[in-house]
Amino acid sequence: MSLTRVLTGKLQRRLDPFLMLDAFGSDDPDDYIAGFPDHPHRGFETVTYMLAGRMRHRDSAGHEGLLGDGGVQWMVAGRGVIHSEIPEQKDGVMEGFQLWLNLPAKNKMGEPWYQDCQSAAIPEYVTATGVTVRVIAGSSNGVDGVVTREITEPLYLDIHVPAGVSFSTALPETHNAFIYVYRGAVEVGGTQVSVQRMGMLSNTPGADGVTLAANEDARLILIAGKPLNEPIVQYGPFVMNTQEEIHQALDDFRNGRFA
Ligand code: CO
Repeated sequence: MSLTRVLTGKLQRRLDPFLMLDAFGSDDPDDYIAGFPDHPHRGFETVTYMLAGRMRHRDSAGHEGLLGDGGVQWMVAGRGVIHSEIPEQKDGVMEGFQLWLNLPAKNKMGEPWYQDCQSAAIPEYVTATGVTVRVIAGSSNGVDGVVTREITEPLYLDIHVPAGVSFSTALPETHNAFIYVYRGAVEVGGTQVSVQRMGMLSNTPGADGVTLAANEDARLILIAGKPLNEPIVQYGPFVMNTQEEIHQALDDFRNGRFA
């Protein structure tokens, strides 16, 4: 699978509780046909939002689901799952995002959990000026998303802003937040964020939200969450708090104690 890593390891502290964001998008089957064969995760959550395409998920906790256009899959790896994500299409466009959301230390070894939501199940609202907002997680302008997570309280919005229009939504002051523009461009806080660019929102004391404006039709995701402020030790698909816990994860995985 060919990916653009938008949020990298260097930003994990700044954008705590988010560990990674990958954007994928291609109409060349060679770029996506292999998908992601069996691989493990421990200690965090993965959120896959599909703009276009079909991908089947299977995991060692017994969950299976087909993710389609506009759908979202939310998986809590907890103490460990082995899963695969394999395309169910041989041509056409596959486009979307995978976000990694950290778990608090006390929940890293919890039970795995999985939910998939087809597009129609994702709440959507349209503002008076024609901005369409899909609320995947959290709450925006009084509309609750399809997923609510305690502790990190993530907000995950897919926002379509017509040219010449602006859009505002509240953000908790304590949250770290960023946007990723996947069509067009937006202006936020006096800064232009162009297509395939991430914009980190400043944590201004007393600020109560964000306003963004589009000079051309724009589409973006807005992601925010409450920082955990705990140590982050990552080794590939394992994200724990200490090096010892990473060694334990590797040992458990190698000895078949994940499933
Ligand atoms: Co995975």
